[in-house]
Amino acid sequence: MCGIVGYIGNSDVVDILTNGLNTLKYRGYDSAGVALFDENKIKIYKAVGKLENLKAKLETVKSEIKNPSMGIGHIRWATHGKANEVNAHPHTSTSSDIVVVHNGIIENFKELREELTKKGCVFKSETDTEVVAHLVSEEYKTIGNLKDAVKKALVQLRGAYALCIMSINEPEHIVCARKNAPLIIGIGEGENVIASDIPAIISLTSNIIYLNDEEVAVVKKDSVSIEKFSGESVPLKIVKIAIETDAISKMGYKHYMLKEIHEQPSIVRNLLNGRIVDINSPIELPEIKMSKDVLQNISKIQIIACGTSLHAGQIGKYLIEDFAGVSAEVESASEYIYRKNTTDKNSLVIAISQSGETADTITAVKQAKEKGAYILVITNRPDSNITRYADSVLNVNAGIEVSVAATKSYTAQLLTLYLFAIYLAEVKGVDVSNFLEIKRELLSIPTKMEEVLTTEGDIEKKAEKLSGFKNVVYIGRGVNLSTAMEGALKLKEISYINANAYPAGELKHGPIALLDENMPVVSVLIPGHISYDKTISNCEEAKARNAKLITVTSSNDEKLNNLFDVIIRIPEVSNVLSPILAVIPFQLLAYYISNFLGKDVDQPRNLAKSVTVE
Ligand code: G6P
Repeated sequence: MCGIVGYIGNSDVVDILTNGLNTLKYRGYDSAGVALFDENKIKIYKAVGKLENLKAKLETVKSEIKNPSMGIGHIRWATHGKANEVNAHPHTSTSSDIVVVHNGIIENFKELREELTKKGCVFKSETDTEVVAHLVSEEYKTIGNLKDAVKKALVQLRGAYALCIMSINEPEHIVCARKNAPLIIGIGEGENVIASDIPAIISLTSNIIYLNDEEVAVVKKDSVSIEKFSGESVPLKIVKIAIETDAISKMGYKHYMLKEIHEQPSIVRNLLNGRIVDINSPIELPEIKMSKDVLQNISKIQIIACGTSLHAGQIGKYLIEDFAGVSAEVESASEYIYRKNTTDKNSLVIAISQSGETADTITAVKQAKEKGAYILVITNRPDSNITRYADSVLNVNAGIEVSVAATKSYTAQLLTLYLFAIYLAEVKGVDVSNFLEIKRELLSIPTKMEEVLTTEGDIEKKAEKLSGFKNVVYIGRGVNLSTAMEGALKLKEISYINANAYPAGELKHGPIALLDENMPVVSVLIPGHISYDKTISNCEEAKARNAKLITVTSSNDEKLNNLFDVIIRIPEVSNVLSPILAVIPFQLLAYYISNFLGKDVDQPRNLAKSVTVE
């Protein structure tokens, strides 16, 4: 949600800002803008819609832009005020001496806006961000120094922010700061770059500094200095990051989503590597710092997440209860944070977040930590904000995920949860031999995932047939209820088809009233478990109401051909491990339906990959 880039140096500022913003598009946005420090002026250009619109605008004003020495850029995902040019960042103070780009939300902006208006500030936009420009400008009048004016202004703000700020009076540097929103500084030679995330930096440098909450940095061409809001200077901690250039390339695929779906077998293979060395030995998770003695006595686990990560969490609950016999609750972070929950110092809270930036999940983790709970974070970004509050971090190592619709991070989360659930069971004394079969089968999962991907062409044809429906019902039972939910979520996210998932047994308690020939029912059928026969009965009930039936199944039973209109087969797999395979056809189905309908697969409307506001 929103992305920031700042650059100071001798290279082409416009190119660096727009290329950087291009790599942040995955965060979700609906307008874009840049401010350039050029010929002792601050020149601002904005456009609504795709970044290409801003680039086209910059092309038409090329002759106005001489030789900028620095600049700041932004892609905005509207929160306060419509997605229009006035509300697009950068924002300026009344006299335009201060220019600001911002990611986050200023919660007390209304009060500040009133006070500043009384002082004579003239507001142009409806945004919360604009108060920052005015506030800094007001402080600058008395302080006369950008860094100190920024500090003085920021302590008056409530909420979350990552900010890049320039002053017309200080042509030598950009000042940036953060609180509860990500911001990193890339250290180059004779140039420095600031950004919300690594992809915007890696073409310039692999040396980065993670700015911490309540720190302000002065970024010059050849130096960076950081201090806390309290004034204490902060020693520079430069980290060398592994450059993942493949992650931000489509590698020949039409969309990032398709590339990321195809990466799943190798991600899962890598995750298994070194974790299950010998199926007769217990699983080792050295990242879990909680002592085995404490873990042995854990009687309750709370899992907190949002979106696709929440679906992984639901399967995690099933696995923890099934394997380890420990009671587990799973809850949307946005619900957990606003109720009187029972978390205490004996709780183990597992927060799952691909990005590690989701505001609701971070707030939940902070609350749980304040109550003394032990926090285990499962994330794809071990460098992210959420890990600051973690006692242990399990990195799902899926590589940067660019497509807004999560795919590879989901199966990597699932695999991590399988490992954790077995680990917990073994720590709690469940006999290792109970898991021999599951471990053996886990090792075969990457190859089976590859097999599923070989049916892609067939799924594409089936997707075309299904793309005309306006409403779809997904059903599942047990461990695959969440697979059905994830399948429905994928479809609605990227094709905008109304898709809803229900426990198969709930169909006749209401949703069945919706069914007719225009409302297909999609199911997951895995033999070898009671849920198989029960779900078939539910499908029969739907068929009796003329609904078209689609199933993803590992069964080879010929009789299914008479019942189902569309069958997508996956390799034989045990019920408990099936979610990690069964979700792939659902990902492909959603992908090809969206592609067939001509939708923006990687950046669906209204959605953001990192939801940094509550
Ligand atoms: C957004 C994304 C979803 C994602 C959810 C949770 O809504 O569009 O794809 O599942 O956030 O994100 P997280 O990074 O916390 O897993």
